[in-house]
Amino acid sequence: MMLFLALVLGYLLGSIPFGLVLTKLAGLGDIRAIGSGNIGATNVLRTGRKDLALATLLLDSGKGAIAVVLIGLITGWTEAPMAVAGAAAFLGHCFPAWLKFKGGKGVATFLGTLLALNFIAGLVACAIWLLTALISRLSSLSALVAAALSPLVIYVGFGETVTALAVLFMTILIFIRHRANIERLIAGTEPKIGGKKE
Ligand code: G3P
Repeated sequence: MMLFLALVLGYLLGSIPFGLVLTKLAGLGDIRAIGSGNIGATNVLRTGRKDLALATLLLDSGKGAIAVVLIGLITGWTEAPMAVAGAAAFLGHCFPAWLKFKGGKGVATFLGTLLALNFIAGLVACAIWLLTALISRLSSLSALVAAALSPLVIYVGFGETVTALAVLFMTILIFIRHRANIERLIAGTEPKIGGKKE
């Protein structure tokens, strides 16, 4: 029952497409027709609106964190339902029913979820993202490196098997959702952070 509640609540929260909503409200049109077509903060930044990109980052990560914390409060901070809530929020962001299941790539929601599941591991993931981004100025590469290392950090550093499995699940999906980015990274054509065009 708790796992089902975690799944539904997580999915519903995660499926709110903040990048799409904020850019529409700001009169910028459909973010899916701009840049990479993604609804995430990196692509919102390509509209030139740093404020909206920051808001998208905070709200997309916040919805993952809130899903985990709400289920934590309800279940007395039980690992499995919290991990399910986070993974469900991530799935909601990537596959929102309201957008015919065509959502984002999940990076901000992944980071927010991780911060709520294991704050230290979340901070480590954010630091890895930031460091890679400072060096490469490539948002996708930074996300891939942070996502790849996170299940290891949780399993080796904290021995949280269920959380590590949920995070591994998200990591695999992040790689699948970044297929086009990976192809561009290999080809050397991936746009740098702050660039307006693909
Ligand atoms: O968070 C998504 C980022 O890793 C890539 O976004 O728009 O460059 O495909 P984008």
